[in-house]
Amino acid sequence: MIGIGNEARDVVGRVSGYVVVERPIRDGRVSSTELLDHYVQALLRALSIRRFFRPRTIVALPASATLVESRSLMTALRNAGLSEVESLDSTMASAIGMGFDVYEPSGVMAVNLGAATTLSGIVAFGGVVAESHAFCGGNDLDRAIMALLKYRDNASIDEATAEEVKLALANVTDEPPRYISSFFGRDLASGVPVAVEIDEGSVRDVITDPIKRVIDVILDNLSHCPAELAQDLVISGVHLCGGNSRLLGLADAIAGLVKIPVEVADEPRYSTVRGLARYGAHTRNKR
Ligand SMILES: Nc1ncnc2c1ncn2[C@@H]1O[C@H](COP(=O)(O)OP(=O)(O)OP(=O)(O)O)[C@@H](O)[C@H]1O
Ligand SMILES: [Mg+2]
Repeated sequence: MIGIGNEARDVVGRVSGYVVVERPIRDGRVSSTELLDHYVQALLRALSIRRFFRPRTIVALPASATLVESRSLMTALRNAGLSEVESLDSTMASAIGMGFDVYEPSGVMAVNLGAATTLSGIVAFGGVVAESHAFCGGNDLDRAIMALLKYRDNASIDEATAEEVKLALANVTDEPPRYISSFFGRDLASGVPVAVEIDEGSVRDVITDPIKRVIDVILDNLSHCPAELAQDLVISGVHLCGGNSRLLGLADAIAGLVKIPVEVADEPRYSTVRGLARYGAHTRNKR
């Protein structure tokens, strides 16, 4: 293995022949348990975690993971030499990471809007009361932008460029669209690099559908909320984390539909992992 994470991402599309770029987890699913083993080992090396340290390890398992996937992750961690591996439901971790006391009787709604998965859960009394998820998220917005260029301009761009376009132009506000961005793609017929232009309005149009699927997860979750807890949610609101929650206008769009307050966490990409850390510190002395 040559590199992992950003190092590997930076060579996508730039390598050929004897170097391949693989994703052990693709679209929110474990694609290969063997790769996952290698990935976990490389991750521990990168973190300088040696076998004899035997750190206590807690992983967030989303409700979207199958039993086989959860087991392969736990096994990969144990194979890498970690002996004390525990898991915590992802939604619990997100709620804790956003600062909630999940052991309270009052309900809290924590939604993780990720790249490949959207998870929405209601937590009360230290457990998840209702949960909904779907395999949709930020990646689908990138793909919608790729599809737009393919069909409108006959041009192709890679996923990383599509994500850049999204970060520059995408939003779901009612503001009049103003910005246009230009960048390089490849002509689908000739393969030659071409300059393409894309404007805020077209991006907003094509992301409508994938955004709707994300919002549907939240609506579905709310529709399964017990009436007693629904009252709590009206006061405590819907709490968003995960990178996709940073999409401009998204929280307001959701609030408009659900008619209860919607808030985005501070540094939303780190909420879940911070929740794991807090949970770990809290349970350390109780074992
Ligand atoms: N400012 C932003 N505006 C819109 N989208 C953003 C922003 N910042 C990050 N994202 C998107 O958030 C996603 C990454 O979020 P996150 O790190 O929570 O996902 P992940 O944990 O890797 O995915 P998953 O939870 O589905 O496995 C990407 O699709 C990224 O493009
Ligand atoms: Mg995530």
